[in-house]
Amino acid sequence: MSGQRWGTRIGLVLAMAGNAVGLGNFLRFPAQAAQHGGGAFLVPYLVSFLLMGIPLLWVEWAIGRHGGRYGHHSAPGMLDRLGPQPWLKYVGVFGLFTNLTVAAYYCYIESWTLAYVWHSIVGTFRQVAPSAFFPDYLGMREDSLLAVPRQALFWFLATLTLNVWLLSRGLTRGIELAAKIGMPLLLVFASVLAIRGLLLEPGAGGVVQSPMVGLNFVWQPQVSGLLDPSTWLAAAGQVFFTLSVGMGSIHCYASYLRERDDIALNAAAAGWMNEFVEVVLGGTILIPIATAYLGLEAVQAATAGGSGFGLGFLTLPTLFASWGWFAPIAGAMWFGLLFFAGVTSSLAMGQPVVAFLQDELRVEHRKAALTFGAATLLLGFVCVWLYPGGSFDEFDFWSGTFSLVVFALGESIIFAWIFGMDRGWEEITRGADMHVPGVFRFVIRFVTPAFILVVFVGALVEPVGRWGAAVRSLFTGGGWPFSPTSVIGRVAHVGEQEYRWLDETGEFTRSFVQDATRLLLLAVFIACGLLVWKAWRLRAEERA
Ligand code: PHE
Repeated sequence: MSGQRWGTRIGLVLAMAGNAVGLGNFLRFPAQAAQHGGGAFLVPYLVSFLLMGIPLLWVEWAIGRHGGRYGHHSAPGMLDRLGPQPWLKYVGVFGLFTNLTVAAYYCYIESWTLAYVWHSIVGTFRQVAPSAFFPDYLGMREDSLLAVPRQALFWFLATLTLNVWLLSRGLTRGIELAAKIGMPLLLVFASVLAIRGLLLEPGAGGVVQSPMVGLNFVWQPQVSGLLDPSTWLAAAGQVFFTLSVGMGSIHCYASYLRERDDIALNAAAAGWMNEFVEVVLGGTILIPIATAYLGLEAVQAATAGGSGFGLGFLTLPTLFASWGWFAPIAGAMWFGLLFFAGVTSSLAMGQPVVAFLQDELRVEHRKAALTFGAATLLLGFVCVWLYPGGSFDEFDFWSGTFSLVVFALGESIIFAWIFGMDRGWEEITRGADMHVPGVFRFVIRFVTPAFILVVFVGALVEPVGRWGAAVRSLFTGGGWPFSPTSVIGRVAHVGEQEYRWLDETGEFTRSFVQDATRLLLLAVFIACGLLVWKAWRLRAEERA
């Protein structure tokens, strides 16, 4: 099936938009924005989108279409084709590792949305408050950090089954079909909720503030964020996640194009569509509705972790409950749109893995899809099982944040400097249905890699508190105050009161769960590397 192609252009753009539009747009974006001062977040976010997001999209589409010409639909083979160096394919290991490990926890959240569609429709939240339901569902009430949450596991299995089934149907009958159904419904549901939310009137039925206060907060650009490196880091991280760049996922979808098919306009269209859904729709639902009922301060407090899970799975279903007959519909629409957003993204994580198994290890298509499902189940099970111990957050940080930056840094340098900007530019503009501004040649060569490098270093050393204060501390002999959320801070377990694996009662601690999860991720990375090594040996033997 390696000769697969997209059915139609609109199908391709919807699939790519479906890839990008995900839970990140409706949960992560609003939460990140709120956490970093709303409009103050928006300016670094948009600058990151233009200087890093758009150029990376073009680079990834170009690498993908180029690799597809040689029958490669996953990152290792594609990177191998960018130059004669044998190590290039190992950079592509990131493109397997991230998709697999992000899929594991992403499908888990996706499964919550499916469960919540069900519970909204059957009216569970009329009997049980979501604030009581959610922790139970996640297994947070159990005495031990190691108890298995059964219901969560059931929905997780259902979600994985659906994903595997769609993947095994192939490109047009699976992924493209899901995007053609899911994306329009998502847009309709999101629009209905956004309009309903903005019509909330202060004074009526528990509304304390105009939803416009929330909207203004998210949208009114403020330059203050420009001066705060942590805001930049968060903004750049959000651009990575929401555009699905740095994953190997865009590459895979682009590899099903023909050599002369347009990529410049398609990439830009899918990228801007994602931004529309993120900033306009994603910005209009969660924060404004929550603000109307709770007030802005409470909303900011609720997004402190930056994930949006609390607002999305606790607050909104609670608020919907006061919408009378519309309550179950609103709930089904909200979680339904999250589910469609999620599915079209998790398929985009699955396809590169399936394609790798098919192209490079000659696994038959359906078996490849099942293998992806089994691997996601195993890894996801760790997430489900150890969620209360913080395993999930480890996956999200190491796979869903840090690895993206590393891979993007690698590929942007390889593309501009090893493949070379002359060939690179030719690749981006061949068959282009739009004029790509010449300045992007310069941006792709210098600005984007430098930008990502700064983000990378920033993530390594992010301090607690203000950067200015940290610099002062460094020069006055106080040392650099690594934040517990910086890469170095995490590795060194900075800020943990007492670092140990067992507590006095002999129970495993959070530190243990964190370290165990990290070792697991490392093992997965090495395993992916070994598979690449084996695939190329097979190939060499075949040739001999
Ligand atoms: N972009 C998706 C989102 O916003 C996440 C994703 C990442 C999807 C990587 C595919 C690959 O939720």
